[in-house]
Amino acid sequence: MKGIILAGGTATRLFPLTATTSKQLLPVYDRQMIFFPLNTLIKAGIKDILMIVAPDHSGQYLNLLGTIFEKHGIRIEFKVQKLPKGLADAFIVGENFIGTDNVAMILGDNIFENDFSKEIKGFKSGGHIFAVKVPDPERYGVVRFDDAGKVLQIEEKPKEWISDYAIPGLYIYDNRCCEAAKKVIPSERGEIEITELHDFYFKKEELTVSSFEGAYLDAGTFDSLLEAGKIVKERGISRKFDPIINEAIEEFNEELKVIARKRLA
Ligand code: TTP
Repeated sequence: MKGIILAGGTATRLFPLTATTSKQLLPVYDRQMIFFPLNTLIKAGIKDILMIVAPDHSGQYLNLLGTIFEKHGIRIEFKVQKLPKGLADAFIVGENFIGTDNVAMILGDNIFENDFSKEIKGFKSGGHIFAVKVPDPERYGVVRFDDAGKVLQIEEKPKEWISDYAIPGLYIYDNRCCEAAKKVIPSERGEIEITELHDFYFKKEELTVSSFEGAYLDAGTFDSLLEAGKIVKERGISRKFDPIINEAIEEFNEELKVIARKRLA
């Protein structure tokens, strides 16, 4: 299983904060946002990760993540997404990286409290998505499913109620996702939509879903970013990161201190 973090985009809802940096490098309480999706993948045992970033921010990601996981056995590759063409573009940009493997793709601004090791390690083939209860399902991609976790219906921002379960930004697909993504025709808003990939597996009756109850935060607006920081602090989400992440960050901090001392000397 390979991992992809989609951390490009334009982040217009967070202008002007994102005029000078990437959304996913903004702080969520005591950590840069990008460490939260990284934690989700690393906790699930993924050791090969592709970071997809926007051209303006590639250097910042390389400085932060370029070497810190090397001695922990985690390999991070970087690719630039020249234009934000949509979520399913991750499987086109990431095609060579994915090779013949399965892939778990997570959005760079999605923060999960849960550990998804079971679903990620146990994945065999097809597509697997997640479902979380929200008070305002009409704002999300929504899924209806049976007790066995078989998807019965998926709908993007449904006008009529179909379910209270939103689909958060973590998706597991088998290798066919790359070919399927290349066939997706851009939507009215000009994006290669992830719902088309769900549909690809759904039509083959190969799409499954699991629901979860822990905190799920999408830190894409001022209010949700503030809320995310509060919840991360209250629930100690960053303290519960995989030890690899916190060790790597500590080592990086030490390096920064040495460099700072040398500059002052
Ligand atoms: P969005 O929040 O939908 O888009 P955005 O980050 O550009 O923000 P805004 O709507 O405020 O303009 O994106 C969800 C995540 O996916 C986010 O982490 C950015 C990432 N993304 C890409 O990396 N490439 C893309 O083409 C798109 C659409 C999103």
